[in-house]
Amino acid sequence: MRIQKENPMTDREQWGSRLGFILAASGSAVGLGNIWKYPHMAGQNGGAAFTVVYLICILIVGLPILLGELAIGRNTKLSPVGAFNNLSGLSNWKWVGFLGVASAFVILSFYGVVGGWTLKYTILALSGGFDALSGQPDISGEVFSEFIGSSFQPIMWQLLFMSFCIGIIVKGVKSGIESGAKIMMPLILVILGLLVFKGLSLEGGKKGLEFLFKPKFSDLNPSSIVMALGHAFFTLSLGMGTMVTYGSYLDKKQNLFSSAIWVILLDTFIAMLAGTAIFTIVFAMGADPSAGAGLIFVVLPTIFPQIGGGVIWGTLFFFILFMAALTSAISILEVITAYFVDEKGWSRNKATLLFGGVISLVGIFCSLSLGDFNITNFMQISFFDFLDELSSKYMLPIGGAVTALFILKKWSIPVFLDELLIGVKEKRYEKSFYQNVLRICLITSSLIVCLFIINEAFDLLFDQSLQKMAGF
Ligand code: PHE
Repeated sequence: MRIQKENPMTDREQWGSRLGFILAASGSAVGLGNIWKYPHMAGQNGGAAFTVVYLICILIVGLPILLGELAIGRNTKLSPVGAFNNLSGLSNWKWVGFLGVASAFVILSFYGVVGGWTLKYTILALSGGFDALSGQPDISGEVFSEFIGSSFQPIMWQLLFMSFCIGIIVKGVKSGIESGAKIMMPLILVILGLLVFKGLSLEGGKKGLEFLFKPKFSDLNPSSIVMALGHAFFTLSLGMGTMVTYGSYLDKKQNLFSSAIWVILLDTFIAMLAGTAIFTIVFAMGADPSAGAGLIFVVLPTIFPQIGGGVIWGTLFFFILFMAALTSAISILEVITAYFVDEKGWSRNKATLLFGGVISLVGIFCSLSLGDFNITNFMQISFFDFLDELSSKYMLPIGGAVTALFILKKWSIPVFLDELLIGVKEKRYEKSFYQNVLRICLITSSLIVCLFIINEAFDLLFDQSLQKMAGF
């Protein structure tokens, strides 16, 4: 039986406008995943072939779960723990919410560290520090490894990044998150547009387009498919209650379906713009496009000094990376703050400052683990990589799958559809048809995600996975 409790917070804040919400939600989605991860994953896994698989994952798995999270949030006007608790009555589904809060801790701990690197590289670029690295990837690699492996510097930058994050969340939903997104998202779009223009105008830049967009199905392997699926969750900020929390600040007038489509379009568009900007510049300068995760922090600093106005372009690039990381990081911290405000009745200031501080502390260990101090040596990976893998391979997909199961088994498809249709003006629809579509989508996405999790667990426990069986 569903027990509908009224939300005790009658003065709960709401987004100021539909545009504000779309920018905030796409700000959460657009982050390091789009500008840092997507371009090199696509570049190394078959270009457009990877992009096609990624888009299929976004539409089949991402869209239904995104809609589900937004609807759960708006229906209950509560953050994840309260929302799942409220909709499930006396049963134990609130653990899905707790899993989300735990994922937020895990992700922000390492995300804040990389956020700090983006700040450091923005300042390095601005001060002309890339000049000494021009055309020398080996030296640039050494500078980067030395920086992230050192004890003091990266922690200072991480703490600075976390203070920006805390500063925005303390200000609240409308004047903090929404205002921040309204400034930063258009800036990201405009600057990326300029960088694409610059990249395409460089001689040889168009070869980068081919690298990124020409489908090479022979480079696509089972491992790329698994990667595309995991990335679909990470890039849309799904499976940890971010979108439940953002949905809880929505009013009933909004059309959830079109808002979700906007978020997906913006997220995908920005990932492609970033890929285009990066690879046109990399190809024009004859740099190595397959440098993987090191592409951004190692290769790009060696080529910016070689293009006209390199100081400006380099600074702008790292500045958008910083803004993208910040709009995502705030959405992660908001999940934690909203939990303590909604469920424990804490003030926003107290919750944000205390837990922003705790996460910064865990982040310090994360950063130190890239140097000599590694507390997870026994697992053969650094604490930093451990948290990254734990969240993107297990916590987010599990969170997403149980959210889908929750809707199917507990909340019920008709109630979900009614919530989705609230802001829809066009009433010419056949309800049972849409209910079946939603049911099929959610069942498919939970099955795919379960397979994904089993595959990863087999890999971890028995060193056997689809990728390995297929010889990759
Ligand atoms: N979507 C963000 C990115 O692409 C990361 C993120 C994951 C943000 C989960 C919030 C929740 O970088």
